[in-house]
Amino acid sequence: MKRRSIGVIMNGVTGRMGGRDHLERSIMAIRAAGGVRVGDTELWPEPVLIGRDPTRLRALADRHGLDRWGLDLDAALSDSANEIYFDAQATVQREAAVRRAIAAGKHVYVEKPAALTSASALALATEADARGVRHGVVQDKLFLPGILQLSRLIEEGFFGRIFSVRGEFGYWVFDDIVGGRQRPSWNYRAEDGGGIVLDMYAHWRYLFDELFGGVKALVNRSERHVPIRADETGRRYDATADDAAYAIFELGNGAIAHFVSSWCVRPYRDDLFVMQVDGERGSALATLRDCKIQPAAATPVARWNPTGPAPELRAGWIAAPEREEPMNAFRVQWEHFLRHVVLDEPYPWTLAAGARAIQLAELAQVSSAEARWVAVPDLVA
Ligand SMILES: NC(=O)c1ccc[n+]([C@@H]2O[C@H](COP(=O)([O-])OP(=O)(O)OC[C@H]3O[C@@H](n4cnc5c(N)ncnc54)[C@H](O)[C@@H]3O)[C@@H](O)[C@H]2O)c1
Repeated sequence: MKRRSIGVIMNGVTGRMGGRDHLERSIMAIRAAGGVRVGDTELWPEPVLIGRDPTRLRALADRHGLDRWGLDLDAALSDSANEIYFDAQATVQREAAVRRAIAAGKHVYVEKPAALTSASALALATEADARGVRHGVVQDKLFLPGILQLSRLIEEGFFGRIFSVRGEFGYWVFDDIVGGRQRPSWNYRAEDGGGIVLDMYAHWRYLFDELFGGVKALVNRSERHVPIRADETGRRYDATADDAAYAIFELGNGAIAHFVSSWCVRPYRDDLFVMQVDGERGSALATLRDCKIQPAAATPVARWNPTGPAPELRAGWIAAPEREEPMNAFRVQWEHFLRHVVLDEPYPWTLAAGARAIQLAELAQVSSAEARWVAVPDLVA
């Protein structure tokens, strides 16, 4: 077996996503599995951890048995062994760092949202293309086991004509005045790149684009239900960003989607994100890890009965056929990106797709501010 090493600069790994989902569960998991096998070659990511806090970086490197870490991004960028720049910093920091990486000729792979505005993300896409480097944006939900199963059902025509999609995302995020710390405080400050619309509509956009033929229009209402939270030091601050959003989308395939995205909900459902698709020949309900279906032939006659249970409503649902071993969604996309960089395999999840994702969030805010339906035009550089 030949080894093809690929130096990967990882910036923002002391954070939640960078440390857990990208370093530990993706890059280190790939190495633990012997790299990404391609014929008689293993693609072998060699991370260098970059950040601002030497104590935390050293501890993280030690924990993973890594010896490459540092505070100097430019030094890492000037090392030709480092071919990829990965960014999971807080969103406000991303654009400038990615621009430096592109200028240094590195392939770039970044967390979503790719930048603070669609125009900035599109500019980065143009710069990357002009410099001849490959680029990608995290679209992890596409690779969740439940969504992969749903996507196969769509490809196989299980639903017939799809007319409705319902998405529910969210959970209770404590204000940190009462309750434990779950998420960094910048998430609740608009001026720091926070807000659930920018955070989650990026995901909804690529799901719509890949599964339902895109999105033509939307009407959205953004809300900030919890006005005061406490930050990492315990100091109270005004939460300036939206923490819940309620939207209806007209999808490219003609279906209507309605999505609730909320950090202010106590869910009573199977998962933190569930998506139901209804079509003329069947329905499906995807969670993060699996997917249930109800074909037309198994659809029960529903009865209105306020004095007793309604067992028939759940009885007609069965598990969708399981086709593959579920893998961590972030890792799956990393493997695709490594193959794209080394083998030139197609990779549609680019900075341009990342720009479309931000565009949906921007238009959702216009809709909310102006209380009207908004069309989603094609985004061109
Ligand atoms: N794909 C997903 O499902 C998903 C989920 C959550 C967050 N994200 C994205 O991942 C990115 C990181 O989010 P996170 O929750 O890991 O955040 P985090 O606050 O836990 O981590 C942020 C990282 O950026 C670094 N950083 C650099 N400059 C900073 C600054 N000025 N302020 C704060 N941190 C700074 C921090 O040191 C840390 O390493 C964000 O862009 C977010 O939108 C993606």
